[in-house]
Amino acid sequence: MCGIIGYVGARPCKELVLTGLEHLEYRGYDSAGLVLADAAGLERARAVGPVAALREAAAGLQGTATVGMGHTRWATHGGVEERNAHPFLSEDGRFAVLMNGIFENYVELRAEVAEHGHELSSDTDTEALVHLLEEAYDGDLAQTVRRLYPRLEGHFAFLAICLDEPDRIVGARLAWPPLVVGRGEGETFLASFTPAFLEETRSIQVVDEGEVVIATAAGVEFRAVDDWSVREHPVEQADESLEVAAKGGYETFMLKEIHEQPTAVADTIAERFHHGELHLDGIGLTDDELREINRVLVVGCGTALHAGLAGRYLIEEWAGVATEADVASEWRYRNGVFDPRTLVLAISQSGETADTLAAMQIAKERGARVVAITNIMGSAIARAADGVLYTRAGLEIGVAATKTFTSQVTLMTLLALHLGAVRGTLSPDEVASIGEELSALPELIQRELDDEAMDRQLDLLADRFAHDRFFLYLGRHLGLPICQEGALKLKEISYIPTDAYAAGEMKHGPIALLGEDTPVVAVATDSHVFEKMASNLEEVRARGAHVIAVATEGNTQIERHAEHVIRIPATRPELQPILAVVPLQILAYKIAGRLGLDVDRPRNLAKTVTVE
Ligand code: AGP
Repeated sequence: MCGIIGYVGARPCKELVLTGLEHLEYRGYDSAGLVLADAAGLERARAVGPVAALREAAAGLQGTATVGMGHTRWATHGGVEERNAHPFLSEDGRFAVLMNGIFENYVELRAEVAEHGHELSSDTDTEALVHLLEEAYDGDLAQTVRRLYPRLEGHFAFLAICLDEPDRIVGARLAWPPLVVGRGEGETFLASFTPAFLEETRSIQVVDEGEVVIATAAGVEFRAVDDWSVREHPVEQADESLEVAAKGGYETFMLKEIHEQPTAVADTIAERFHHGELHLDGIGLTDDELREINRVLVVGCGTALHAGLAGRYLIEEWAGVATEADVASEWRYRNGVFDPRTLVLAISQSGETADTLAAMQIAKERGARVVAITNIMGSAIARAADGVLYTRAGLEIGVAATKTFTSQVTLMTLLALHLGAVRGTLSPDEVASIGEELSALPELIQRELDDEAMDRQLDLLADRFAHDRFFLYLGRHLGLPICQEGALKLKEISYIPTDAYAAGEMKHGPIALLGEDTPVVAVATDSHVFEKMASNLEEVRARGAHVIAVATEGNTQIERHAEHVIRIPATRPELQPILAVVPLQILAYKIAGRLGLDVDRPRNLAKTVTVE
């Protein structure tokens, strides 16, 4: 959600902070701010809008300070206004604070500081902390932070500066919001996410929850909040490259990421399926334990949940294990019944989604084995799980997930195959043959992306339907989660209301939405439910709606049931979803383009949702 960066060193840091914020901007972009500290005092700039607006607002600052920190905001407490943008300063001008996360007891904290006579200048939870620091300060910022820490409820990573100790930034972390240290020569960075400083250093250390971190130009000290013992953390080399964060010639990150899908899927498979053999290292459960599993529960949010819904069919089909997939934010408040033989799969691109993390923690407490599927090494979800399977999609910047979705479905496919192989429900020959077809998918996705006829057709569809008020998506079986994903893509970047429904359910309600011109997108690829889909499409056409069908190359029947047919390469039905979603991503992209919208930064959304 919010992004934070801090710098302590010998170089003037205004530009370093601004550049770091630009690399973090995809996480939150409703406002931004920075503070620079030098002997003359604290200088602050804040602006509503993108970091470019902050750049302008900060143009007048001195720019000689060698200690500074910045913030990109995704509003939680308090509207999108400059006065709610971080950092916050104490009234005496000596302290500055910024935060990613939430103080859940903010009402009480704000009331307390107001009672003590502080004038609150914002509606945020974070501002309370700067006043508390000013009150509690005893000459040692780190110790003051330590004393206040138990009073702060919620989940957060914050940074603080005090002018009395101008050589340092002190930070603290509770629960999942990440905080990473970047170690340079005579300089130290702090950030919520490594891309903020990767241009400067790749040597990183991760701050653990329950720790206070003290960063100076000379180095960094990690202290446990409870007993103040010194903690050691290995210096690791960050593997996300900044090159991937550049648009590489594409007009948007989303388009670039759509085009990276062949590589993302190929890298996710890589050595896991090789010469007819499947290896799924990292799963954290022995083959014996996997044979004991009697139920699988998949939890996730948004796109990640859709990948789980697709995986559900495959696990049931190939491994014969009862599988459910549920929204993490709902499941965490259900009294979910399961036992140690339940395998919980937590899917999250970012590995930070608050609800998914909470759901997996509850599952662990109740005795389930938890395997994470994530794209981010060392993320909170990866660390909390018994085993981790990484998608290898590379950093995804576009808020609308694309390459991580196809990589997640790929990984779910590998997992379903693995379970089938281990449990003996699939023969080695079946595993080898499905694995070969899976390995051919990157080439088939590339064919879709290179298909000029498909591109022209999607352009025409975007021209024709971009101004429609509503889209209905219909699918059955594995086509359903693909419809759900296609509908989510369209609504999040074009703001056109969409609904995705099991085609068989249409008669039970959504058919009432169909008018003469309603566009209905159907995933009608070859499978055992094709005939059923065809009948549903007839029902749609009988109401005068326009059917846009995604169908398999070579299918000769679909033309009778759809006005527009998007052809995708043929593969076995279980693998069609990975190919079927690609034209739906591109259709959504083109429609948003026709409407002149910023697809990389859809309104109100953040790439990573670290609040409940
Ligand atoms: C996808 O386009 C969305 N932006 C969103 O639904 C996302 O998939 C969801 O927030 C889950 O994120 P995660 O994979 O990082 O947990």
